[in-house]
Amino acid sequence: MSDYDVMNCPEHGEYKVLRDAVDKSCPVCKKRKSLQTFLKTLPPAYLEASLDNYITTTSDQKGTLEFCQAFVEKLIERHNNQLPLRIGLVFFGRTGTGKTHLALGILKLLAEEGITVEYITCTDLLKLDGPMNVNPAVEKDRTRLKKVQVLVIDDLVKMNLPSNRELLFNIIDTRYQHLACTILITNVYERNFKQHDERVISRMQERAYFLPFMWEDYRSTAKRLSAKEC
Ligand SMILES: Nc1ncnc2c1ncn2[C@@H]1O[C@H](COP(=O)(O)OP(=O)(O)OP(=O)(O)O)[C@@H](O)[C@H]1O
Ligand SMILES: [Mg+2]
Ligand SMILES: [Zn+2]
Repeated sequence: MSDYDVMNCPEHGEYKVLRDAVDKSCPVCKKRKSLQTFLKTLPPAYLEASLDNYITTTSDQKGTLEFCQAFVEKLIERHNNQLPLRIGLVFFGRTGTGKTHLALGILKLLAEEGITVEYITCTDLLKLDGPMNVNPAVEKDRTRLKKVQVLVIDDLVKMNLPSNRELLFNIIDTRYQHLACTILITNVYERNFKQHDERVISRMQERAYFLPFMWEDYRSTAKRLSAKEC
């Protein structure tokens, strides 16, 4: 006897699911919903950002884009083989070079595959600092950030408050222990990484790829181009 049930989605037709699966909903609908849910959380300025529309004019940019594409493929392969995602990224370097753009492009492609993803700025993350179990909504957010399969923390700032450092460390360390994928973004150059918590950097160094973003600020390029069009 087959271990599978044949189900029918009104939109996508027949599909098979394991008989004892907890969730038997259509996999195509599930992926679409996961992407739509993620898009709702995005800053509007980055709704269109993708790997496809990242313009490369230098070999460094091209190499970085290709690396991001390969990284996405690797994560999807690991997810499909039910392996822990394990690897991560650290984007560091100059302002306006497309760090946030590429990170969100990566998250969109992963969300499309039904992988759970979340984007948060470090400043917003620190708003979740505070005593445990006081505010259940905050506690829920912290738990979600620890559990999501892929988390981007953007604009990592220098943290002077010990409780801020502990909150970030606790999230990164829980993810590290569970072999989850974390992507950190910072304007700090590699030689100055010691201004960040060394426990965080050490964990990232073990499994993440560090990519420098050292080219020209795209915001000024884009402004020059649009001024010419006027
Ligand atoms: N190579 C590129 N091709 C197309 N658009 C780009 C490129 N680089 C950056 N952009 C666009 O320029 C703007 C700035 O990019 P982004 O916000 O990703 O930079 P950043 O490196 O995160 O900067 P910051 O460190 O200041 O946060 C965004 O609107 C982004 O979509
Ligand atoms: Mg940014
Ligand atoms: Zn469906």
